[in-house]
Amino acid sequence: MCGIVGYIGTGSAKEIVLSGLKNLEYRGYDSAGIAINKKGKLLLRKESGELENLIAKTRKAEFDGNMGIGHTRWATHGSPIRENAHPHLSADGRIAIVHNGIIENYIELKNMLIKDHGIEFRSETDSEVIAQLIGVLYEGNLLDAVRAAVSRMRGAYAVGIICSEDPDTIIAVRKDAPLIAGIGEGCNYLASDIPAVLSYTRDIYVIENGEIVVITKDDIKIYDEDMTRIGREVMRVTWDATAADKGEYEDFMKKEIFEQPDGVRKTLGRRLTNDGEIKLDGIKLSKEEIDNIDRIYIVACGTAAHAGIQGVTLFEKFAKIPAEMDIASEFRYRNPLVNERTLCVCISQSGETSDTLEALREAKRKGARILSICNVVGSSVARESDDVMFTEAGPEIAVASTKAYTTQLVCLYLIALYMGRKKGTVPDEKYASLIAELRQTPDKIKEVLKTEKQIEKLAEQFYIKEQIFYIGRGMDVGTALEASLKLKEITYINSFAIGAGELKHGTIALVRNGTLFFVLATQDKLYEKMLSNIEEIKARKAHVVSIAKKGNSRVAKVSDEVIYIPECADDVTPLIAIVPMQLLAYHMAKLLKRNIDKPRNLAKSVTVE
Ligand code: F6R
Repeated sequence: MCGIVGYIGTGSAKEIVLSGLKNLEYRGYDSAGIAINKKGKLLLRKESGELENLIAKTRKAEFDGNMGIGHTRWATHGSPIRENAHPHLSADGRIAIVHNGIIENYIELKNMLIKDHGIEFRSETDSEVIAQLIGVLYEGNLLDAVRAAVSRMRGAYAVGIICSEDPDTIIAVRKDAPLIAGIGEGCNYLASDIPAVLSYTRDIYVIENGEIVVITKDDIKIYDEDMTRIGREVMRVTWDATAADKGEYEDFMKKEIFEQPDGVRKTLGRRLTNDGEIKLDGIKLSKEEIDNIDRIYIVACGTAAHAGIQGVTLFEKFAKIPAEMDIASEFRYRNPLVNERTLCVCISQSGETSDTLEALREAKRKGARILSICNVVGSSVARESDDVMFTEAGPEIAVASTKAYTTQLVCLYLIALYMGRKKGTVPDEKYASLIAELRQTPDKIKEVLKTEKQIEKLAEQFYIKEQIFYIGRGMDVGTALEASLKLKEITYINSFAIGAGELKHGTIALVRNGTLFFVLATQDKLYEKMLSNIEEIKARKAHVVSIAKKGNSRVAKVSDEVIYIPECADDVTPLIAIVPMQLLAYHMAKLLKRNIDKPRNLAKSVTVE
């Protein structure tokens, strides 16, 4: 998804903005551009395709100046051609803007600009109206023009604006799209995401909705809508910039799969005392407040929603509160029965997913308490929630989510057990054994990672398949769904996941000689049922690869191959069984020579509806 970078200081704006955009590559993009203010003149360059194209075209020294903005674009309105790339210029060439988000009333504004001001638009984008609108409103004071323009814009936006006549200022505005300002020495930065500025500074201001920022080389001033100056606390980024490096790995996805033991350990570690009690720093729910909750809605998208599916089981089992998982994009429009006794659990790696954020706001409007699980400190989801639990996954760069998923699961275990403990609905013995099981999961994930060679061999056998099915029961249904999503995202192989009991109600019609099934059979109490399901599809000549706990040897007799995971309690298998599935998808994608970290048509953070 789009990324914004801005710089003002004494260094080379071109170098700094381009390096910032490079650090945002993981968001996905299909064109990029840069505008530099050099001695009161705006120099503009935009290219479609790889950032390298833009870098090559701006190599010459005449493109140097000390203030500039840049953008990586992911096409929403208008195809990914150079004309549609940002920055966009006003008709008179004095104003340049970069924009993330959507201007919902852009057609209305565009018609007005054409009719009343004779503006000729150069692109098909909604974003160009911002440049043109500021252009016609500009009468020598950029800030006034921006404020007047913003009052007419509807939608979601983070916008960076420069003006040829004002070589000392970058202005930025934010509504429902992420924006930060980075604090330098004798220079300052603007960006949509922290990694863009991390090579230069760790001190940032998180810009809030409705705020206007005026950035000069020596100062960053933040104002609210009424132009009241706001004192904002500096946020010091503590995570390591090298976490955004591939290190010894070929791809971020592989690195992130292998980081899972560490991520799980850290996510658990901070919250478990030596005597096994759970301490949740960002969650302030008292016993009375927990007792008052009569329903939990979990809202999330994609992989986070699959973690949410497991959350339903955990909340119902341990906290004994009815729970439902809702896809955020549906929840926000279906008028759910939310009230003051509802707990809304939002799960989001980025904390900026538009659908999740809007679902959160909808639940809040209706009186729910909002508890979020998030990987990005300072993100919108984190800031707009009553309680937040951060996953300790570190930055996740690969588009296909892996370590965020397993650490989200850890948070769900801890929150559900914490609530159950407060309510007295988890017997002491059960609680102690689960905590012991959770503590062992990092080592068990490590054990699974050691089976990579076996999984690579299976990948060689199956990467030419055109269709793959995943089935499971109980907590294996969520794992099957997540495994299937991973496969389709990065291999582009058509895959389908379904509860095994549901097969005979229709999908079994697709099974014929050689149809490939990955069968999740990790739930002891449902093991016999899974064996019957395997018999059922084997009878139709399917090829079956089962995933089962060590020691369950009967599964080997009915399956063509078995991937074993270490013995563990049924309740914690989702944390472990997903790992071989991630590896399998990874190796199949590798054999298919896919762009694993940046699969086609996908973006890391989906900040538009
Ligand atoms: C899949 C994937 C997506 C995200 C989804 C939600 O691998 O990464 O399905 O899980 O877009 O994103 P967040 O968690 O950032 O809200």
